[in-house]
Amino acid sequence: MSQRLVVIGSQWGDEGKGKITDYFACRADMVVRYQGGNNAGHTVVFDGHKYSLRSIPSGIFNPKTVNVMANGMVVNPESVITELEKLHEQGITDYQLFISDRAAMVMPWHSQLDGAYETLKGNALIGTTKNGIGPAYCDKYSRDGLRMGDLLEPEYFAERLKGALAVKNPQLRLLGLPEYDFQEVYDRYMEIAKVLGHRICDTSDLINRALHTDAKILFEGAQGMMLCIDHGTYPYVTSSTPSSASVPVGAGISPKWIDNVVGVAKAYCTRVGEGAFPTELFDERAHQIRERGHEYGTVTGRPRRIGWFDAVVARYTSRLAGIDNWALMLFDVLSGLDKVCICTGYELDGKIIDYPPSTVSKLARCKPVLIEMEGWKEDISDIKDFDSLPEAAKAYVRKIEEITSVKVGIISVGPDRKQTIIIDEKLKQF
Ligand code: GDP
Ligand code: IMO
Ligand code: MG
Repeated sequence: MSQRLVVIGSQWGDEGKGKITDYFACRADMVVRYQGGNNAGHTVVFDGHKYSLRSIPSGIFNPKTVNVMANGMVVNPESVITELEKLHEQGITDYQLFISDRAAMVMPWHSQLDGAYETLKGNALIGTTKNGIGPAYCDKYSRDGLRMGDLLEPEYFAERLKGALAVKNPQLRLLGLPEYDFQEVYDRYMEIAKVLGHRICDTSDLINRALHTDAKILFEGAQGMMLCIDHGTYPYVTSSTPSSASVPVGAGISPKWIDNVVGVAKAYCTRVGEGAFPTELFDERAHQIRERGHEYGTVTGRPRRIGWFDAVVARYTSRLAGIDNWALMLFDVLSGLDKVCICTGYELDGKIIDYPPSTVSKLARCKPVLIEMEGWKEDISDIKDFDSLPEAAKAYVRKIEEITSVKVGIISVGPDRKQTIIIDEKLKQF
């Protein structure tokens, strides 16, 4: 029977999901992206090369792996074409990629609306990636969206496009943005259909067929649980649910199939964009971690905000997503700090709480309750097994396991595929 592994971000995104997905993709038969879009930036490093992926699954480097962009995603076909061209330039030409006919399309007006809404919000802006993700999901739910499969039926596409423009052009006009001409958009998308048409299919069927074989299937989450539209730090969130719970709907499979969930977590925390961040650091240590970890956004180049590992967030996301193991990432980056801290609770208006409150107004008032532990000086980036780590580093890992009640199944000590320590036996067998 097949093995089904879900890899999700458990903090505010950029935890290293691309690296972990690529690591397992070397052995996976199928890699599936099931939510989000090209707001994601996943970095994969191997054989001295670095690759950045936006909406294409991180299994693309293994010619034997079937890569699927499933129905829960919002797909910007222009961005997919650019991404493929870039991969071609980097010598990646032998791959398998399929896109769901039911996936919502990100249209050019979505990124314009995204930018305009941000400007209108002034200081209350969200700090989105301005890729039109929010407006595209809005149109999906208001039923004004176009879907990838529409491209395969020119007459139907024309009808849907007319309907969408009837709703969108007046909105654009109100905001002082340029309107779209039906024929121009139609012609451009018929060109796109020629390039991507052969990849568009019923991916739920594809995945379900694989589920009934002994295939190894990996579901690659984008963003992170604290950016979840329902459970994250609303409104400073993305517009999808980056959880394992999204897999069934977003990939078109039964929930019963999921059997292993890896929560990818940095050994500290980062966040890009606005919104409360209780363990945020503002001193020299933030600078040190940012520079050592090259903490600048893959998509927008913005410096990432830095904070200590937040066990309140870890427990919360583990509860919501059923995390079986942590993949503890960028552990090498903490080397050289005298002391390292873990947040065990929050102090809110004089009371200690062990959960993130629902409003950012309360979350912004939360002060982290920290435990301080000895740091370690050694460079750990070449270490291959847990036992060889410095004692202080091992104690840090054990403390995270104890506070979160979830085992650390993977430790990552560098960006390269090879810098990965697998501890969990089940994961070793994947
Ligand atoms: P994703 O969005 O979750 O896939 O993460 P990103 O790729 O946006 O950001 C993670 C960054 O950390 C990338 O630059 C990775 O190459 C890098 N990275 C991943 N794991 C490690 C690690 O263990 N150590 C170091 N130093 N860098 C890592
Ligand atoms: P990966 O998959 C980090 C953040 C944006 C912003 C908020 C809303 O690489 O981990 P959006 O464009 O989605 O409407 O922006 O969500 N955000 C991410 N932060 N990593 C990501 O993806 C993100 N995708 C969105 O910075 O705060
Ligand atoms: Mg990223």
